[in-house]
Amino acid sequence: MNTAQQVNILSQEFKANPFPLLAHLRMEQPVRRVTLPDKTPVWLVTRYEDVKALLTDERFAKSRYNALTPEQLRKQPWVPPMFRPLERTMIDLDPPDHTRLRQLVHQAFTPRLIERMRERVQTLANELLDAVSRKGEMDLIRDYALPLPMTIITEILGVPIQDRDKFHRWSKVIVSVNQFNANWRVFPAIWKFIRYLRKFFKVRRDDLRDDLVSALIQGEEIGDRLSEDELLAMVFLLLVAGHETTVNLIGSGMLELLQHPDQIERLRCDPSLIKSAVEELLRYTAPVFMSTERYAREGMTIHGVTIPRGEMALGVIGSANRDETVFENPDTLDIAREPNKHLSFGQGIHYCLGAALARLEAQIAINTLLERMPKLRMKGSPESLRWRPSLILRGLESLPAKF
Ligand code: HEM
Repeated sequence: MNTAQQVNILSQEFKANPFPLLAHLRMEQPVRRVTLPDKTPVWLVTRYEDVKALLTDERFAKSRYNALTPEQLRKQPWVPPMFRPLERTMIDLDPPDHTRLRQLVHQAFTPRLIERMRERVQTLANELLDAVSRKGEMDLIRDYALPLPMTIITEILGVPIQDRDKFHRWSKVIVSVNQFNANWRVFPAIWKFIRYLRKFFKVRRDDLRDDLVSALIQGEEIGDRLSEDELLAMVFLLLVAGHETTVNLIGSGMLELLQHPDQIERLRCDPSLIKSAVEELLRYTAPVFMSTERYAREGMTIHGVTIPRGEMALGVIGSANRDETVFENPDTLDIAREPNKHLSFGQGIHYCLGAALARLEAQIAINTLLERMPKLRMKGSPESLRWRPSLILRGLESLPAKF
């Protein structure tokens, strides 16, 4: 393989099988510069230890405002004022702003609290399968992997369930962007999403309920309150991160199980393996394939390559998870793998807030599917599958199956 060749991290070929190229980069160019369609340079970091360091090193900022020179900031594309609150989601901020915002919601997502949702997730999984059970076939993404996390995060927040298709339509466009800078193509979806949420907050303010949005409006937990713009950024992030990720874990996880008959059989025979199976599917599929962006606050030299101040680096989680110096037989799917220190939920202060929820949803979704559909198989060849366009997520458009 020629490393001088253009690495197109957005192509269908890369999405379908990125692993040989990533193995090559880990070996030959562990810090590799690529350019996005808008010509922004991005540094891909592919080795496990380097990805871990990138995610935890304070010399890499989450907010571009904390890293770019005034000159670089002046050259940044214009963002319409209406969209500016969305630049202040906790995932794009550094301490102390990040710390304050995360504290306001973390209690709603602790493993203990999430465990209480087990019954609800189980009921929903059964209802979704009931709805297709007579048809003999389904699209595992549209009918199951997507509505399950979408419904749950909607219920947690208190957003009207009948609107979930609407906001998924918008979030689908938003996560399909192939660059980090403002992109005119997605403006209408962002605009509609913001308008919808602002209207919804008005309704909730007059009719507080037992849901997370009401709690955030009241600032109950620690006597701190969010401004209207912070509330918008928070709910936007939770709605999008709460379903656009887990859909890929359930979807790509099922694809891998269906393509590894020995492993799916092992799980069917011993459903108690589900916890380690989901960890292995997280490692193997890396639903959030690239970390979100980090900006170098100063020139950062890694393996002799310097990332200049203000430029953007991405940790390739899907590559770190296959690093042969950390995982034995990294390209083998082993649902009982132990230890399994994958980086699929990130590392450090931005470690995934929804990890416990995602785990619970995937464990229930996969075991319920295997139990209720013993004859489940793919409809069509793996080569015919299409991968969703997205810079950081990796997931299928659809996964037709028969049962
Ligand atoms: C399989 C499903 C999921 C995966 C693989 C995943 C992965 C990740 C990763 C890798 C990060 C860190 C990104 C970085 O540091 O650049 C992250 C952060 C985050 N995730 Fe998840 N996530 C999943 C599900 C969820 C769910 C269900 C929620 C809903 C609550 C959620 C909410 C968040 C939030 C709010 C952050 C930002 C945390 C912070 O900045 O402190 N995620 N996730």
